[in-house]
This record gives sequence, structure tokens and C-alpha cells, in this order.
Amino acid sequence: MIDIHSHFLPGLDDGAKSVEEAVAMIEMAAGDGTTHLVGTPHCNDRFAFSPERNRALLGELQERVGNGVVLLSGCDFHVSYQNLERVLTEKATYTLNQGTYLLTEFANYGIAPQTLNIFHRLRLNELVPIITHPERNRLLREKLLRRLVGMGCPVQITAGSLTGRFGAEAQQAAERLLTERLVHFVASDAHDTRRRPPRLSRARARVAAKWGEEVARALFVENPRAALDSRPLPYFPEPAQKRKRRFWFF
Ligand SMILES: [Fe+2]
Repeated sequence: MIDIHSHFLPGLDDGAKSVEEAVAMIEMAAGDGTTHLVGTPHCNDRFAFSPERNRALLGELQERVGNGVVLLSGCDFHVSYQNLERVLTEKATYTLNQGTYLLTEFANYGIAPQTLNIFHRLRLNELVPIITHPERNRLLREKLLRRLVGMGCPVQITAGSLTGRFGAEAQQAAERLLTERLVHFVASDAHDTRRRPPRLSRARARVAAKWGEEVARALFVENPRAALDSRPLPYFPEPAQKRKRRFWFF
């Protein structure tokens, strides 16, 4: 499996706190069947983002863990006008494996009115923004998600949501998104080895059991590989019609 979203780079954000914890996270991921791990530290108002530091840490960690698992660079990019110029002028600094796919995170409370505009600009500049964990953001799901997918932006849900780690609402929302064919990646969004661990295998088994092995392969292996190679995603189906709300009158 290939994990495109993980906060294992140490001391940069709210993820791993030390090199030892980073190594433990990488080893846990490898033991769970992950072959490629993208380090995606936050880039937002709270955490500074330093490509040089990231590169140095990736090199150091790769040396520590050996070649059984491949470590790659990326970023968990906060979408805002202030950040937009940065990503347009130095794309490879922020994208997954220095290619064309960009992980984008939304604020949990409210969506800025310019958001659609920003995503249009990203698409016009040949970037493919990946919408991260909408199952944990109702506003995003209800207001914007289908339009963004219609613009060619794929969606990543978090493995832990499928296994109930973020509560019943996130789990049900993740399942509904899968059933509506609005999911293109599953990633760990790991932050440590205990509360938010870098494991994918349980979520993969659930997807295979409920939506089929082919979908599981697409979401955990083939789409992530295509994103790392900057190719179009092999699995990007037409979404199912939105479920109509039913009203009952008594
Ligand atoms: Fe994240």
C-alpha cells in the first residue's frame, strides 16, 4: 500500500515529536504493509514549512530505516489566498513527490468565499488538488465537495474514519462517500503511533469487503501510485446521484 498523507517528519508540526517516534511510525507502517510513505507536514498559520529541513529529515530517516520502505516528500497544504502565490510559484516544494498532486486541507469551521476561485486557479496551473478528509467536515461535504470533484479534484478519506476512530458521524460519512463514488484515496493522516497511527490494513480490508477488491486496490495502491508519478488516476468514476432527502408526512 502507498500512504500519501502522514505527519511522521519529526518536530515540524503536531505529528512525530522526535526522530525516535518518526522511526517507530515508519516501522509500524512498513509492518502493516505500506511500501511508500509521503511525509506531509502542515503548511498553515500555525506551522512554518521549510523544504530544506524536510529534505534533510527525509534523508536522515531513510538512512535509519533502510530501503524496505520508500520515504517521499509532500505537504498538507492549507488553502488560502495568502498561501496560493507560494504554491503557484514553487509547485514542487509542496506537491506529492514534487509532481502535480497537492494535498489540501480546509478549516473545520466555515469555508472561505474565495475557495472555489482558488481551486480554479490551482487547476488552471496544472495542479491537481486532493481534498482531504471531507468525512470530518460536514460543511465541505454539503456545500462544495461535488463541485470540486466535478472540476477534477480527487478526494482522500482517512483510514481511521472507516474503522470508527473519529466517531460514528465520520464513519457513516466516509461510507456514504464511498458508496456515492466520491473517494479516490484512503490515507492514514498519521500523527503518532497510538492515537492516530500509520495503519491502513484494517481500512483496506473493510473497503475490500464492502466495495470490492478492485476498489480497494485503486484507493490504496493504484491511485496513490499514479499521483506519485503525476499521471491521471486510473480510478476516477462518475459519482452516483446524490441521495434525495425523504420527507414523511403523518
Ligand atoms: Fe494531515
